[in-house]
Amino acid sequence: MLRAEGINAGYARLHVLYDVTFTAHDKGITVVVGPNGSGKSTLLKTFMGLSTLYSGRIYLGDEDITGMPPYRRARAGLVYLPQVDNVFVNLTVLENLRMALYAFSKYSEDRISDAMELFPELKGMLTYKAYQLSGGQRQMLALAMAIVRKPKILMVDEPTAQLAPKLAKTMLNKIYEIKNQTGVPVILVEQNAKAALEIGDKAYLLVSGRVVFEGAAQDLLEHKELGKLYLGL
Ligand SMILES: Nc1ncnc2c1ncn2[C@@H]1O[C@H](COP(=O)(O)OP(=O)(O)OP(=O)(O)O)[C@@H](O)[C@H]1O
Ligand SMILES: [Mg+2]
Repeated sequence: MLRAEGINAGYARLHVLYDVTFTAHDKGITVVVGPNGSGKSTLLKTFMGLSTLYSGRIYLGDEDITGMPPYRRARAGLVYLPQVDNVFVNLTVLENLRMALYAFSKYSEDRISDAMELFPELKGMLTYKAYQLSGGQRQMLALAMAIVRKPKILMVDEPTAQLAPKLAKTMLNKIYEIKNQTGVPVILVEQNAKAALEIGDKAYLLVSGRVVFEGAAQDLLEHKELGKLYLGL
């Protein structure tokens, strides 16, 4: 579904990613792990067109999206959930969900009620302002905003950052449940390597902007050296 070949990218002259070739699992969860500053967020931003691409190509299905501006990638079905600032805190839950659909011409309220089936915990909170939500509920809202757009591929950057361990587990379980119920392929960037690899199908380990491991998530989880060296497993 999403494929990238020979990616070299960064920010202006700061080179972050080196020769990254990447294929997302077409139905499952592709987990991207690696130490702080290894380029995980930059990889997602590159897929979305938000970094400086020096060379390489990116495809969504059969379409070459390399030169597309971010808004067109969003319309093509690429949904990116950033690590921080992913909800409008002064808007209500319902207004946030409407904002998520705003850019889409065939916008319909039905999408919101459909999405609420996947997020029963938000149903009773539609009139709450986002700042009134707990950290965990806010991350659920951010995820719901991504889901109402019916993504072709969903990219999530560290959804468990700043959440207590129990809530982190709930969040990852929700992503797993969404993947199973909607069939949307997910690219999941996570600090919490063990928990993420447990729900993952495929995995990449990035170190200093290079791919050090590509393969089954289970194999990375069980990899003695890499797990110990880079992931604290
Ligand atoms: N907007 C930006 N402008 C300039 N440099 C940036 C920007 N965002 C990130 N960087 C730099 O790019 C490098 C990779 O950062 P990136 O955020 O991709 O790492 P990461 O693997 O997501 O780390 P973390 O686990 O801390 O989220 C770092 O050296 C970082 O300082
Ligand atoms: Mg990051």
